[in-house]
Order: sequence, then structure tokens, then C-alpha cells
Amino acid sequence: MRIAVVGSGYVGLVAGACFAELGHDVRVVDNDQQKLAALNNGQVPIHEQFLPELLARHRGQRLQFSDDLHEAVRVSAAIFVAVGTPPTDSGDADLSYVESVAREISGAIRDYKIVVEKSTVPVYTSEWVRKIILRNGADAESFDVASNPEFLREGTAVTDFLFTDRIVVGADTERCAIVLREIYAPLCDGSYYQRGDAIPQPDRAQIPPPLIVTSTKSAELIKHASNAFLAMKISFINAVASICESVGANVQQVCQGIGTDSRIGPRFLNPGIGYGGSCFPKDLMAFRAVARECGYDFRLLDEVMRINEEQRQRFLRKVRNALWTLRGKRLGVLGLAFKGGTDDIRESPAILLIQSLVQEGCKVAAYDPAAGDRAREVLPSNVELVRSPYEAAAGADALLILTEWEEFATLELKLLSSKLRYPIVIDGRNLYDPAVMAAHGFSYYSVGRAPALPEGLPTQAGNDRGEKPQQI
Ligand SMILES: NC(=O)c1ccc[n+]([C@@H]2O[C@H](COP(=O)([O-])OP(=O)(O)OC[C@H]3O[C@@H](n4cnc5c(N)ncnc54)[C@H](O)[C@@H]3O)[C@@H](O)[C@H]2O)c1
Repeated sequence: MRIAVVGSGYVGLVAGACFAELGHDVRVVDNDQQKLAALNNGQVPIHEQFLPELLARHRGQRLQFSDDLHEAVRVSAAIFVAVGTPPTDSGDADLSYVESVAREISGAIRDYKIVVEKSTVPVYTSEWVRKIILRNGADAESFDVASNPEFLREGTAVTDFLFTDRIVVGADTERCAIVLREIYAPLCDGSYYQRGDAIPQPDRAQIPPPLIVTSTKSAELIKHASNAFLAMKISFINAVASICESVGANVQQVCQGIGTDSRIGPRFLNPGIGYGGSCFPKDLMAFRAVARECGYDFRLLDEVMRINEEQRQRFLRKVRNALWTLRGKRLGVLGLAFKGGTDDIRESPAILLIQSLVQEGCKVAAYDPAAGDRAREVLPSNVELVRSPYEAAAGADALLILTEWEEFATLELKLLSSKLRYPIVIDGRNLYDPAVMAAHGFSYYSVGRAPALPEGLPTQAGNDRGEKPQQI
């Protein structure tokens, strides 16, 4: 099938490359000339596992990049809209990019097309998109608007797309649902997974995935409700971690006990420094705004957001407790991306924490395997970006772990200790076993677990200089 994907960001580029991988003929359209030039020159603009392979396989053949939306609509049966939907000041989703694309699409519709919302949008957006397309002259019978929310996660986007748990298709007409079923047929009938050159199957994949057909409104709500639920799970376990810290329990043990209940499950029960990224913060605010407009006061979401913000403040208090005063202290920081496996720094808790620490007078040397270049544009100019974890640690008063990159979980502890000025590690991602860290001579602070201190040091949190411990 001929498909247009509008927007070549994290979602559009991955979706376009994966549709090509499924055998479709894909045009990815963007209005960012720099991005297009990079894509047409063989570059891979985002850090995403298996994306380079897919682009190399299909670029210039089943996958083309252009700025000509009109042409792409004219030749395609389905147009997926994957442009950004950032938050406005009031927390609503800014749908102006979606609207402008809908307007442009309208003028190019000649025969039957389906226009598919791939961007995360509030309920009723499909109705607005339909109105805009009609207002701009398209015939009512010549198109349908569908919602096909995207559940991929950055870092594992390609495998999430191809080995998805489910495909949700919000379609209000059968003819529209038929087109979407055909597009996803190689996944739903399992034929893609039989191919010798298929992308390797990840551990947890259940194939083939079910295709769930709903109304467009239900599909729009499914995406917002899913993200809100996942964010709630993160805030829930972060709240439990805070109680663990107060009573001396171990949150990892609590997680194991909770997560083995099949009704709850172990995923997204990872205590840390809170969620970030381009989706959860904005989608929660947008869902909150949608609920308010519908007359429902969704205060649970306010609490999820409050706990998330508080989690960063608690981490800052932990750093202060471990180091006493911060002015002039040198900190090594591991991680800038909002999570491991991606170069995305949008709403990254790591960046927000570094900004706060610099404001308090710390000197920071930071390392991230992929997000350094993007971070440079937003970090204070005095933050030094270095090329390895050990360079970040060199001469530092403490090392902070802020992103859960695998590389950070396998550091050579002896070498690390020799680089640091003081062997203090404050781990916002619980990557290490506290007992192992203490055995290697570190004062080790993590989330929801008692601090581990080498023998001979006082055992209370934040007390390794002998001061009275503060509430953390
Ligand atoms: N990033 C994720 O992990 C993720 C996951 C699921 C859903 N989503 C949703 O998908 C949508 C896109 O997210 P993203 O992270 O890919 O955004 P992004 O900012 O990385 O990419 C958006 C792209 O759209 C392009 N664009 C904007 N206006 C355009 C226009 N008029 N014509 C052509 N191109 C245009 C931009 O140049 C940019 O390349 C958002 O609604 C987001 O909430 C994102």
C-alpha cells in the first residue's frame, strides 16, 4: 500500500521505516529542510536501535523523504499524521501543527483517503480534523479520519512498533478499518515474523499482536489513559519508595513482592527520579485539561504530577545530605537523556536536576552515551560535557547517576573509586547493589533503600561528615 507519514520525528520516522519494512511504499514528509537533507544524505537523525538498519534497507526504495505533502497525499491511500502536539501554557495540547497539516491535506484529496492520527491527541481531535478538511473543500465521501495511537517507547521504538502488544485502530467506518487492517496485516497474520530478515524478536514479545478496533473517540482516550496509568504506576512506586526510606525498608524487595502479583505486574515499578520525556508530562497535562473540559475533576492526575515533581526535590535533598554544602562542589553526572537508550532530552529529569545543582553553585562534568549534543543546547555553558563515565568522575566530590543506561550499571568500581575525590555515589536509578558498593568503599545513596556506607562511617542517611541527618 502507498502510505504518507507527515512528520519525521521519533514517531514518524520510526513508523515510516517500519511500514516500509512491512512492504509498503512510504513517503515521509517533513517541513524541516535540515532534517530532510540529513535523511536524504543517509544520516540517521535520532539514536534508536535498529533504525539505521531499516533506513539502510529501504531508503531510496520503499522509503522516500520529501517536503511535498500535496504529492504525498495524492499518491497515498493512507496519510498518517505524526507531527508534534506540545503543551500550551495552560497544559492543553497545542494542536496547531495537526490543524495546519489537515488544512494542507484537504487540498490534495482527489480519491478516497484515510487520514490517520498517529500523534497523541485529545478526544474529539478526529472530529476537528474532519471539520477542517471539509471546510477546506474536500468532499465528505472522499475521506475518513481514523485514530491509530502509537505506543512505542524511545530507545526500543523499532521493536516496540514491530512487536507491539496491540494495535489500536479507532475507525468509525468499515471502509476505513479495512485499510488499516490491510496496513497492519503482515504483523497481525504473523507473516512478518516468519521472514528470515525480520528484526530480532525481543524477549517479552507476544506475536502476532491483536488488532483492536474501536471508535475514534475511544482510541484517542486509550492513548491518554494508557500514558496516565503508566505515569501513575511510576509515581505510586516513588511514593512507596519514600515510605521505604523513612522506615528502613527496601523498595526493590517491595517491588518484587508487588510485581509478582499477575494483576499488577513488575513493569513500570522502577523507583527513581521521576518520569520525564516528551510524552508523560505533556500527555498527563493534556488529559487533565480534557477531563476538566468534560466536567470531570481528575485530581488523581494532579497528585501523580505532584509526586513526580517532589521526587526530583527529594533527590536534590539527598545530594545535599550526602555533601552538606553544595557551593563550589564538583559533581560528576552520568546521564542526560530522559531515559536510557535514547538521545531525547525533552523534559529530562537529569537536565532539570543539573540546572538546579548549577544554580546552587555546583560545578558539573556530565557524560551521556548519546544525548550530549542535544543537551549542550540547553545546559548552562559552564557544564562540562565529557567522553566517559570515568572522566565525569575525575576529581569529583560525588558521582550522580541520573539515567539508566546499561553502560552505567557495569562500571569498573575500583577504577571509579580511584577517579573520584571522595567515593560517594548518589544513584537516582538504583543501578547497584548497596552492599556491593559499600564493600568497594563507596558511600552509596539510592532511592527507597537505606544508604550503604563503608565500615567505620556512621550509618545514617546523609551523615557521612558527622552532621545531624536531615529528613530526606
Ligand atoms: N516520542 C515518543 O516516544 C512518542 C510516543 C508515542 C506518541 N508520541 C506522539 O507522537 C507525536 C510526535 O512525537 P515525536 O516525538 O515524533 O515529535 P517530534 O517533535 O520528534 O517530530 C515531529 C516532526 O513533525 C514535523 N512537522 C511539524 N509540523 C509539520 C508540518 N506542518 N509538515 C510536516 N512536518 C511537520 C517536525 O519538523 C518534526 O520533525 C506527538 O503527538 C507525541 O506525543 C510520541
